[in-house]
Amino acid sequence: MRIVVLASGRGSNLQAIIDSVKKGALEVEIGAVVSDKGSAQALERAVKNNIPTRILPAENYTTRAEYDRALAQLITGLNADLVVLAGFMRLLGNDFISKFPNRIINIHPSLLPAFPGLDAQKQAVEYGAKVSGCTVHFVDEGMDTGPIIAQKCVPVIEGDTTETLSARILQEEHRLYAAVLALLGKGLIETDGRKVTIKRS
Ligand code: GRF
Repeated sequence: MRIVVLASGRGSNLQAIIDSVKKGALEVEIGAVVSDKGSAQALERAVKNNIPTRILPAENYTTRAEYDRALAQLITGLNADLVVLAGFMRLLGNDFISKFPNRIINIHPSLLPAFPGLDAQKQAVEYGAKVSGCTVHFVDEGMDTGPIIAQKCVPVIEGDTTETLSARILQEEHRLYAAVLALLGKGLIETDGRKVTIKRS
């Protein structure tokens, strides 16, 4: 399976995917890393690992629809079976999403449907949640509302700050994203509307 990773920042999830591919744990080829930010650390990680990079800066487009069209064209040209969002900070419009049905996945740092949107870890700490975690889901038109593929719980510990909780969740994100990609790479994930199941091999 050929994937394209979209990332805007640090790229630690991208790194976890690269490391798993290198270990031979994933039947996945990273075709390219695409970013809306030329300064994204994710791009450096890609270059270090000889993965092609593309930059699509938002400033070059006047509307979101125009941006999404350019991005869709780029991804189609890269022959991706799956688009993997890893800290990509732009909302993708319906036109884009409908071009890749069940072929876009995202990781979110909470147990969805709790704490969607920005600053999920801060939301969890401020809410006083006792558990949070991370979710890998297919992307649909809503904000973090697509069918859930897998989740991992992480405790919120007394005295946690946004930073300490984020660090604990991030460790699990790295494992969960690689585990889901391993299943997808083997064709072991089945979808039926909102229901996502793992085929028994
Ligand atoms: C992660 O917390 C991910 O869940 C969220 O954005 C963050 C990206 O981190 N969508 P990184 O760039 O992969 O280090």
